Amino acid sequence: MHQAKTKHVVGFVGSPRSEGNTDILVDEILAGAKEAGATVEKVMLGDLAVNPCKACYACRPGGKCIQDDDMTDLYEKMQASDVWVIGTPVYWWGPSAQLKAFVDRWFEKAGDKNDQAKTFKGRRIVLALPMGDTDPKTGRHIVGMFIDALAFVGADLFDSVLAPGAYDAGDVRAQTDIMEKARKVGKAAVEIR
Ligand SMILES: Cc1cc2nc3c(=O)[nH]c(=O)nc-3n(C[C@H](O)[C@H](O)[C@H](O)COP(=O)(O)O)c2cc1C
Repeated sequence: MHQAKTKHVVGFVGSPRSEGNTDILVDEILAGAKEAGATVEKVMLGDLAVNPCKACYACRPGGKCIQDDDMTDLYEKMQASDVWVIGTPVYWWGPSAQLKAFVDRWFEKAGDKNDQAKTFKGRRIVLALPMGDTDPKTGRHIVGMFIDALAFVGADLFDSVLAPGAYDAGDVRAQTDIMEKARKVGKAAVEIR
């Protein structure tokens, strides 16, 4: 009998706050994926060295990044997984600097057809976005950024979990509807459509 391959899910946490709202939301999405049979792992981007892009264009066309930092390991994780959970707090209506540095560095792989196919194509992405503001529209630029960026690299924005009104670390735990949604989205992201 044909057995579906076990899916692997990586959570990228762009908040420097361990056990903050981003971390909690990413954990909950990963827990849903695990419940549905996937293997999961989590990366705290703030604990790693991911330098900002220097715009030297050495990676283009078809070249390599001049920087030697943790991005090499992160690419391996991106390539070895089926689903990415990308979490960032809303900072000034945009993503955190840690998350933005990570995404800017995708430039290296996005310019080369083979690298692009290996790194991004077929990946499902779930966004996790806590914010202090009670209006979920506060997250719209981050969602908009990912709609365009993921379309550009051929990855699939599967769903977004927005958590307005989450300001202090841990606030999101009390938002049971959002926590439930996070778990459900995690499950759904590893199920075959
Ligand atoms: C530098 C900074 C900028 C922020 N800017 C915004 C903002 O523009 N809108 C908003 O709703 N919340 C803003 N916040 C609040 C955070 O989004 C909120 O505290 C969030 O829960 C933090 O996530 P964390 O617990 O994972 O660190 C900001 C917080 C910081 C530290």
